[in-house]
Amino acid sequence: MDIGIPRETTEGERRVALLPDGAARLIGAGHRVLVERGAGAEAHVPDQAYETVGAVMAYDAGALFAQSDLVLKVRAPSAAEVALLRPGTALVGLLQPLVSPDLVRSLAAAQITSFSLDTLPRISRAQSMDVLTSMSTVAGYRAVLTGANLLGKFFPLLMTAAGTITPAKLLVLGAGVAGLQAIATARRLGAVVQAFDTRPAVKEQVESLGASFLTLPPLAQAEATGGYARQLAEEEIERERELLRAPVQEADVVITTALIPGTRAPVLLTRAMVEAMRPGSVIVDLAAEGGGNCELAVPGQRVQVGDVVIDASLNVPSQMPQHASQLFSRNLTAYTTHLLSVGLRRDADGREELDRSDEIVVGTCITHRGAVVHEATRARMERST
Ligand code: NAI
Repeated sequence: MDIGIPRETTEGERRVALLPDGAARLIGAGHRVLVERGAGAEAHVPDQAYETVGAVMAYDAGALFAQSDLVLKVRAPSAAEVALLRPGTALVGLLQPLVSPDLVRSLAAAQITSFSLDTLPRISRAQSMDVLTSMSTVAGYRAVLTGANLLGKFFPLLMTAAGTITPAKLLVLGAGVAGLQAIATARRLGAVVQAFDTRPAVKEQVESLGASFLTLPPLAQAEATGGYARQLAEEEIERERELLRAPVQEADVVITTALIPGTRAPVLLTRAMVEAMRPGSVIVDLAAEGGGNCELAVPGQRVQVGDVVIDASLNVPSQMPQHASQLFSRNLTAYTTHLLSVGLRRDADGREELDRSDEIVVGTCITHRGAVVHEATRARMERST
């Protein structure tokens, strides 16, 4: 199969879907890999590195899309890119189908077999393909560095001839993948860390990283089946805010990551809570993509409210394009290998045949042969029409 790696065109996107070692693996499995010139440049991967492993360089996106049977991307394609895809081409990327009905319709209309990595089922067999976990790891780490950069204080305890500096206090709200990585990173920098999550099961993980877990008793049963958090009712969130008021006021840096997939991020920090924070404090709102955990966060921006800075950057993984691309590429190589060996085969007429018995294929395939085949996406689109 001819597999194409285009240069990402979304503004501010610095990652590349596949690194040369991933390309080498696919070439080793008998495929041809085409790479658009400059595809890895923002992630500091020169074209030559792809050529060295046997990839073919395509002069521009037009040439690349025209020759590819399967296109591997980080972000969803633009309308211009969809127009360049040949009917019958397969496409893999972070398509966000649940919130992108127009894109899904255009992919179906263009007869593209599309697969979205953000709908990958979270089962152990798919762990090596889990791009969202990898990207949240990058974001959790980076959020702490952003907080440290914006704070006018040291993170660690310092004993100097000029006196003792007490360590910074960091509060992490939401101890999932990003939150746990934020805790680990802040601890390495010497901050005193507190964390809270509505799932009491994460207490042990938080404590094993050297942070203390805030126990807010009335919310103790917020765990749904399968270890996932359940969405809280508005009065429960109000109660949570009340309980968080004092720890937020004491914190130098608050990192928020609270989200239940497919819902708007709960508002955990109100204007009054921000205004009560100490001068010079910092909030890094990683849930900005889901509307933000802080009422005053402006997704994609860094704002100052009184003497508090609120950073709500989007696409945080792109701030670390080298390792973000490395992790993305490893996950994508595992996914593509699975797709091409199990999930997607050519029938006798040379048309792509989907294996609908495979949970990973069913969970990620969004459009096929002109139809929207992903159940949750179809249901969401039907509800909104
Ligand atoms: P996750 O699902 O692993 O963690 C979210 C955690 O929030 C869960 O542990 C859940 O129990 C907790 N939670 C839910 N409601 C809560 C509440 N009311 N109070 C306290 N905790 C609550 O998700 P992950 O992968 O860690 O991602 C976290 C956030 O970071 C998401 O919003 C994600 O979109 C965002 N993210 C943002 C990026 C960016 O570029 N801005 C990049 C990567 C992730």
